[in-house]
Amino acid sequence: MSSMSSAPIGQAATVDEATTVTAIILAAGKGTRMRSARSKLIHPVAGWPMIRHVIAAVREAGATRAAVVLGHEAEAVRAVLPFDELSMSTMVQEPQLGTGHAVRVALDALSSSPPVDEVGGPGVALILYGDMPLVSAATLRALLDLYRRGGYPLNLVSAVVANPYGYGRILRDAGGRVVGVKEQKELAPDEEGIAEINCGVYCADLDWLRQAVPALPRHPDGEYYLPDLAPQAVRAGGVGVLGDADATEMQGVNDRAQLADADALMRARINRRHMLAGVTIVDPARTYIEPAVRIGADTVIHPNTHLRGDTLIGGDCAVGPDSEIADSTLLDGSTVARSVVEGGARVGRGCHVGPYAHLRRGAVLEEGAQIGNYAEVKNAVIGPGAVAHHVSYLGDATVGEGTNIGAGTIIANYDGVNKHRTTIGARVFVGSNTVLRAPVTLGDDSRTGAGAVVLRDVAPGHTVAGVPAREITPHPPTPSPREGEGEKGPPHPPTPSPSRGEGERNAPAPLAVRRVEGKQGLNKSTPSLPRQGEPVGLSAPQSREINPHGAGGEGAL
Ligand code: UD1
Ligand code: CA
Repeated sequence: MSSMSSAPIGQAATVDEATTVTAIILAAGKGTRMRSARSKLIHPVAGWPMIRHVIAAVREAGATRAAVVLGHEAEAVRAVLPFDELSMSTMVQEPQLGTGHAVRVALDALSSSPPVDEVGGPGVALILYGDMPLVSAATLRALLDLYRRGGYPLNLVSAVVANPYGYGRILRDAGGRVVGVKEQKELAPDEEGIAEINCGVYCADLDWLRQAVPALPRHPDGEYYLPDLAPQAVRAGGVGVLGDADATEMQGVNDRAQLADADALMRARINRRHMLAGVTIVDPARTYIEPAVRIGADTVIHPNTHLRGDTLIGGDCAVGPDSEIADSTLLDGSTVARSVVEGGARVGRGCHVGPYAHLRRGAVLEEGAQIGNYAEVKNAVIGPGAVAHHVSYLGDATVGEGTNIGAGTIIANYDGVNKHRTTIGARVFVGSNTVLRAPVTLGDDSRTGAGAVVLRDVAPGHTVAGVPAREITPHPPTPSPREGEGEKGPPHPPTPSPSRGEGERNAPAPLAVRRVEGKQGLNKSTPSLPRQGEPVGLSAPQSREINPHGAGGEGAL
């Protein structure tokens, strides 16, 4: 970026690096061309309300405080401002009489409450429009540098663009010195061809600004234009111009087409930063990473992946395709495919999630855990190496190390009024299609038969089966189940035949009923969930245990 100046460089600079930098950001306008009920400045660019990008840039360039001029939809804009990132004040411009008037409102508010760090020292103002999300800290630093070296009271950024229509144009005299800025609607026919535009980024001496802004002329449309400071600055020592600015950085967002352009440019910039830091992005045009996301080296991001909010992804991970990770953490060597991980979920090292899994708030996967297709985890800790490969809901639970959650396992954590916790120990084998009615505990090394509906705690090493589940055979602890066993069903004796005969209720479970008995036998020997309308339970005494609300998967959250 080169700098062209209207007055000789080398004129005594009156300030040094220690000068306090105050950013004044104009955000009061209506943004009529967006055709939106909301302020233009809260429309997102790469996931952030566009004004947040401007604030991030001024902060990175060294501004220690920001004054944000609000007006249209003031409360909604205020709500997205990052007050914790730097000293920030807001003021309301009402009515909105133009960009020059907006700066006057800011100065009035600032001088009525001077900051401690400004007392006794010179100050400089960086003035930006809130609708320029692409402006970079590097450009702002170069502008501050021009101010420090050149000593001009006013410095601005210009760019030569192919289509200058709509922008204010830089007017220069025969000697190339800037004499003013003229808005599109006031251009004479012979000025329309001027290709050098005013980008809308300024750096001015605060003391000079306090004198100059009240003297701005009023235009026929009733407004005060900030670029009209230029002729006053010419009389006070000249206008410093940072020319040849990167036109993409200077793009203002006035309508939704420009919003999409800015979004694509910002995403490309973010993606490039990650790629240069060692992240493989397979298809950058279809990868959506918000500014605060951190990603370790050698991680591969597959297409159509959205990484949002305060997300941290370690090294050597693979994310996507078709995945969303929001405000969550993924440690080294983990993979997430075609899944949603959100709400502060934490995925440990070497875990696998997906396809089609959903980790929600409070989900914690410890090292090597695997959550497979159509499985949902909420407010649950899944222990090291534990697996839930297929079609499960694990809510409000703790699952111990090496436990295998069989296909179709549902934790019925909600009784219609309250949520209850479930504790599943280590090396537990939960048979396919088990329903665990919370609160309930499965001890270490325990087992449930396929289709079990577990209403009561199961002691360590014990096996239960049936509807509702009863103990069928205690057995010693077994080695940790291996991946895939859930597909085959429990490798222990078949579950008891659900009999309605009162006499059989307390008899030892028949152990030898096999599924090859034929249709009728199969029906009899396979415990199943009650069909709709069927009484739950095998007999009157047992059915009394059933919670009157019924135990279902989580219905309301
Ligand atoms: C402005 C500049 C133009 C420059 C262009 C660069 C003026 C008069 N014109 O034009 O020279 O080329 O930006 O993008 O400054 N705002 C207020 N209060 C107001 C009016 C506007 O806070 O009373 C805010 C808006 O919210 C917006 C910014 O100022 O963030 C710029 O206003 P906008 O109407 O977009 O100015 P442009 O016509 O784009
Ligand atoms: Ca604009």
